[in-house]
Amino acid sequence: MATPADALLGWYDRHRRTLPWRAPPGAPGGGRPDPYRVWLSEIMLQQTTVATVGPRYRRFLERFPTVGALAAAPEAEVMEEWAGLGYYARARNLHACAKAVAAAGGFPHTVAGLLALPGIGRYTAAAVAAIAFDQPAVPTDGNVERVVARLHAVEAPLPGARPRLDALAQRFLADPAMRARPGDFAQALFDLGATICTPRNPACALCPWREGCAGHRLGIAATLPRKAPK
Ligand code: ADE
Repeated sequence: MATPADALLGWYDRHRRTLPWRAPPGAPGGGRPDPYRVWLSEIMLQQTTVATVGPRYRRFLERFPTVGALAAAPEAEVMEEWAGLGYYARARNLHACAKAVAAAGGFPHTVAGLLALPGIGRYTAAAVAAIAFDQPAVPTDGNVERVVARLHAVEAPLPGARPRLDALAQRFLADPAMRARPGDFAQALFDLGATICTPRNPACALCPWREGCAGHRLGIAATLPRKAPK
């Protein structure tokens, strides 16, 4: 029987966005991306939009092509390359993390191992484990929270609803189709949130999860997730 992850992955295979940090389908290495590139993209994407990150990501990689090159660079050069991206603690942590990874001879493959590194929290650990190493992990960012809030018609407001939304997102781990392709599943969730399940005017008619979506059925999808008054 087709599961929700089957439906999402089928949609992703037809509509996946071409992004600078994604290996093209059928690329050498089975399309498996370089963990350094995955990690760098996830750190950059935390507070910066996909459109802004694209060119900066390419430029950063030209200057620091490997985690070893980044680790060996003086901190001032890393900060200079980060200029304009904001959240400078990210750049300092990025450099500290590169040094730890270079000293260890590579990135850990598990969520627990990744979590022990500087600047890597639950979201980044899950994203890198899934995308770079195909470990079963679901990274819950704002896009994923919105998709899940709508799918389950969670009306409790953010930020209080966050643990509940993360717990609901983690339920995808039980879906065998998700476990077969955790990296693609994570990126499919990001793409669904960015192109279909958008904050305003979601394109429910085009959504692979339309039939199972409680928010859509109740006619409240576009109003979710709610936000607590400030
Ligand atoms: N947002 C955060 N990580 C992303 C990724 N890997 N692809 C697209 N959007 C993202």
